[in-house]
Amino acid sequence: MKILVTGGAGFIGSHTLVELAAAGHETVVVDNLSNSNRKSLERVAELTGKEILFYEVDIRDREGLNRVMEVHRFDACIHFAGLKAVGESVEKPWEYYENNIGGTLTLLDVMRKHGCKNIIFSSSATVYGDSAIIPITEECLKGHCTNPYGQTKSMLEEIMMDMQKADNEWNIVLLRYFNPIGAHPSGRIGENPNGIPNNLMPYVTQVAVGKRPELGVFGNDYSTHDGTGVRDYIHVVDLARGHVAALQAIEKNCGCAIYNLGTGQGYSVLDVVKTFEKVNGIKIPYSIKPRRAGDIATCYSDPAKAEKELGWKAQYGLEEMCRDSWNWQKNNPNGY
Ligand code: NAD
Ligand code: UFG
Repeated sequence: MKILVTGGAGFIGSHTLVELAAAGHETVVVDNLSNSNRKSLERVAELTGKEILFYEVDIRDREGLNRVMEVHRFDACIHFAGLKAVGESVEKPWEYYENNIGGTLTLLDVMRKHGCKNIIFSSSATVYGDSAIIPITEECLKGHCTNPYGQTKSMLEEIMMDMQKADNEWNIVLLRYFNPIGAHPSGRIGENPNGIPNNLMPYVTQVAVGKRPELGVFGNDYSTHDGTGVRDYIHVVDLARGHVAALQAIEKNCGCAIYNLGTGQGYSVLDVVKTFEKVNGIKIPYSIKPRRAGDIATCYSDPAKAEKELGWKAQYGLEEMCRDSWNWQKNNPNGY
């Protein structure tokens, strides 16, 4: 298939480009580079042996998108482009709604005008809020999102479902990611956060590389096996392959389909620290800090639906995730 990849220069997008190429798909990337670097695309080209067709275009730029879609006829779009920092979204809600919702509305409109009505959307486990049912299935009720970032994901899911109901030529696959970490085993592409990392694994690797003195563990009084928060970490290469698998749903005219992409295993913050130390032979100093506002105790998936319907299942475990995150960080201490 020929696929438009928005946000393809980012963390998950760049890994997905590698897997799409391996599966024989053709790709065109649109990214405004607001949270990425074109070097990631050069590295993808190096890994795949193929040039990446790239347009530096903002998805809010209707004319820019039109120009791309006049030149290329796409079978589907994989839509990663968006802002994703939870804390920043609380401080800049307008910017998040405008970029994520405004941008996606423009993208969807330009797509339909060019006859492309197939989209795979990067949603998030955040839409489940603090689920009463664990492990979380796709049938679990969507919860209350405590921040504007989460709201944009939840609202965009609703918008796309309504569009699909009104026009059944649309095929919409909503992929709810759990916690992506790790990096390509080559160490050539990986996560490249700006400033102080918000998420656990990039913080751990920055402590390991000596950029930060210690990890703050946000709370050890949750009702989990060791008191620290439990999440479903998933290797980014597995997640990337989930997108290739999701193209099957599009090919079968799925209408609207929702899949959790996770491993189904929950690990605590201290499990991650201990595994990272064991696999990589590096001590991670940490201290216990107060709980972080908006955090929940436990969140992990039931990933059975994706396995049953798409034949997709995560292959990598926490050890490989820790190994590959460190391999990326140590080979690229300052990112790209
Ligand atoms: P990322 O920031 O590395 O990638 C997003 C890309 O989108 C960046 O390259 C950025 O420059 C681009 N972008 C942002 N706004 C744009 C715009 N208006 N026009 C064009 N390009 C734009 O993030 P990621 O971790 O690769 O996440 C990809 C997607 O997955 C996002 O939609 C994110 O919300 C979602 N997601 C991520 C996680 C996670 O933990 N990483 C979890 C759940 C969902
Ligand atoms: N944590 C720490 N110290 C840190 C960072 C995180 O103890 O420095 C803890 C958190 O309290 C939490 C766990 O590590 O218990 C994971 O936190 P992350 O910030 O890595 O991930 P979250 O589960 O909070 O959220 C992430 C993304 C969201 C997304 C969600 C589900 O940031 O955008 O996964 O996909 F919605």
